[in-house]
Amino acid sequence: MHSPPLRRQSLYGDARGWYNASATWEEVVTFMTMQPTENVAALLRPYVHRVEADLELWLAEPATPKALSEAMRYCVLGGGKRLRPALVFLSASAVGGDAMDEMTRRSAAAMEMVHCYSLVHDDLPAMDDDVLRRGRPTAHVQFGEAMAVLAGDALLTRAFAVLSAPASGGDARVGSLVAELAFGAGEAGMIAGQVADMDLCDVPPGLDGLRYIHNRKTGTLIRAACRMGALCGGAGRTQLDALDRYGEQLGLAFQLVDDILDATGDRAVLGKTPGKDAQSGKRTYVSELGLEAARTLAQEITAAAVTALEPLAPKAAGLAVLAKSLAGRTH
Ligand code: IPE
Ligand code: IPE
Ligand code: MG
Ligand code: MG
Ligand code: MG
Repeated sequence: MHSPPLRRQSLYGDARGWYNASATWEEVVTFMTMQPTENVAALLRPYVHRVEADLELWLAEPATPKALSEAMRYCVLGGGKRLRPALVFLSASAVGGDAMDEMTRRSAAAMEMVHCYSLVHDDLPAMDDDVLRRGRPTAHVQFGEAMAVLAGDALLTRAFAVLSAPASGGDARVGSLVAELAFGAGEAGMIAGQVADMDLCDVPPGLDGLRYIHNRKTGTLIRAACRMGALCGGAGRTQLDALDRYGEQLGLAFQLVDDILDATGDRAVLGKTPGKDAQSGKRTYVSELGLEAARTLAQEITAAAVTALEPLAPKAAGLAVLAKSLAGRTH
């Protein structure tokens, strides 16, 4: 038996140790109550390093026109929390998989490419018309609209090339991973959410409609990241279902907090222009419920995400702490 202080020490001390911590589930929950505003950047740091090294490699395609290559690198390598890759790695670990495994790493890189493409297109004048992203000019401001559209297209396509590139001996997981990413990013997933967010289709009024939008525009990719990590780690049915539920709740909470930050955040900290949602008349949890009720709901949904992990405890400790930390994030 380890003593609780030692276990707590490792939980506090080393973000890489979260998912290996030998703490019991009760201890993890106690810890989270004690530290409600854990530093998101510190938690994500190890995964940022890992995925950025892989993204550098996967973006080095010699036949790409130089100007396109420059735009793609700008869109992917200029900052960002790298939450979705971290979810792939942590989910693989939560089911007992090896987060350094080749397919896990490829899934993390592919997921981030799709996310970056979604941001580039989301910022376009025809969509949210934003000029600031990750603290820098958006892609269309930097390279022009045509190049931003095309760099986004190229990143989406590249993501599937990364997933399906021949591995030594082939890998039986490729088909399901491609299907998960395609579903999450596709016309019933993220794109459906963006179409609804832009008011281009019928969406029910009130909270039901808002949940429809948020679950899809943001939730489906976050859920896919968890499911892909689970599949990479060789999850069984119960494990996959637990991570599926966690991903769904986390995705909703994540966009809810994004809405709150748009209404309350600071430009320099956010790295994007605050106040855009109200200015554009977007449906958000803040416009629907007001700030305080939106904050309460974010906490409730985060708690539901953490509860979903119980069948995986204690290997899912990292995911639990991450969810809790993201609820109190500032960007
Ligand atoms: C921003 O996502 C867009 C949403 C889905 C809310 P992130 O907040 O994960 O953006 P980066 O990757 O850290 O820049
Ligand atoms: C983003 O939602 C959803 C996707 C990029 C798919 P938002 O439009 O709220 O994201 P930000 O605030 O621009 O990052
Ligand atoms: Mg948008
Ligand atoms: Mg936007
Ligand atoms: Mg937003």
